[in-house]
Amino acid sequence: MSTPVRILTGITTSGTPHLGNYAGAIRPAVAASRQPGIESFYFLADYHALIKVQDAERVQRSTLEIAATWLACGLDPDRVWFYRQSDIPEIPELTWFLTCVASKGLLNRAHAYKATVDVNLAAGEDADAGISAGLFMYPVLMAADILAFKAQKVPVGRDQIQHIEMARDFAARFNHIYGEHLVLPEAVIEEQVATLPGLDGRKMSKSYDNTIPLFAPTSELKKLIASIVTDSRAPGEAKDPDAAHLFTLYRAFATDAQAADMHAALRAGLAWGEAKQALFALLNGQLAPMRERYEDLLAKPADIEGLLQTGAAKARAIATPLLRELRKAVGLRPLTASSLMPTGIASEVKVGESRINRTPSFKQYRESDGLFYFKLVHADGRVLVQSEGHASPKDVGALIARWKAEGAAQWQEANRNVQVAGTLIGRLEEGIELVEVVASLAAFAEESV
Ligand code: TRP
Repeated sequence: MSTPVRILTGITTSGTPHLGNYAGAIRPAVAASRQPGIESFYFLADYHALIKVQDAERVQRSTLEIAATWLACGLDPDRVWFYRQSDIPEIPELTWFLTCVASKGLLNRAHAYKATVDVNLAAGEDADAGISAGLFMYPVLMAADILAFKAQKVPVGRDQIQHIEMARDFAARFNHIYGEHLVLPEAVIEEQVATLPGLDGRKMSKSYDNTIPLFAPTSELKKLIASIVTDSRAPGEAKDPDAAHLFTLYRAFATDAQAADMHAALRAGLAWGEAKQALFALLNGQLAPMRERYEDLLAKPADIEGLLQTGAAKARAIATPLLRELRKAVGLRPLTASSLMPTGIASEVKVGESRINRTPSFKQYRESDGLFYFKLVHADGRVLVQSEGHASPKDVGALIARWKAEGAAQWQEANRNVQVAGTLIGRLEEGIELVEVVASLAAFAEESV
């Protein structure tokens, strides 16, 4: 089997999603996540949200709404990595490592920062008036989001290309200083992203106040559609569908055949009022089932929280070992570690060490009680999990094989008891976190590809 391509998408958790976000971002991303041969990472960028939103209630509410929206639109958390940025402490840690290699001059040239400076200067203010260091550092945090998971491809709009280039720059500088640890990501430019027109015909956008909220209740949806601006051609008069944004909206949700029918009907004089009814029926037919799922999800924040926790454990299975490797590489390591030696030698050792890191093991043995046991032992020699006793060595072997194969999401812990897909396997050793177990298992999975 060829190695899957790892694709990562960050979702800013601010605002309420509208139809334009759905057609332009959510729908294509959910469809892409179902393609074979890829590993899709989707995360809620709530650290990023803090740059813009400093109302704690709104930060939390928006995270809930955006998570529920993506799930309701069909994102399958069993198939993708779906997590919340702030559940991954490796991201801020990597942000700092990157901060220390990033060139400040490069950050000065970031579009979002520069645009704000330009506004200040034009207004005769100090260049940095009202600009937080968070806005300035935005590209470094975004680079950490990507690099912490060795993502290869990042689908972005044109406005974000510069950020991906910066991520490559930071990664290359880091690798140059500390050795090849980080993967340089590539931007995948979404050339023909559907941009939907809003009620007034301009691009649908919150800043124009012309949006149709994705999950507006039926009555509001009907009202908003009725308010779509059209020309004044009377019923029976031929219309030009290609100049009507009502038709553009219709086409974005219709099959080709439906769109062709509507096109012909408008040219033949269909009244705008009837076209609006048809648009309402089309939209409501597609949105109603999602709206229902959305409302169910919103009513059960604990379920979403649970999914996100599972997603975080699955994501950390990748980020935790990487950050462990990076800490060592930059010199944040126990004083007893062996690398108080010239850098040339140290970097050779590093390659060897990272290989050793990847080989945790299951150790099987028989106790004096006649039963068969195993331990899961970390590459560094620490025992992570101690099993229950089993009647035969064959049972133990079969169980180990099965557990190695189960995905991270199947590993759970309660009161230090570790379960895989509901079966008890043993106890976490003192001082060990489940995430370390999951990370070790990810190393097995990586070895077997
Ligand atoms: N900056 C992105 C946006 O505004 C959101 C984002 C944050 C992101 N971190 C990311 C996108 C990492 C891709 C990769 O849309």
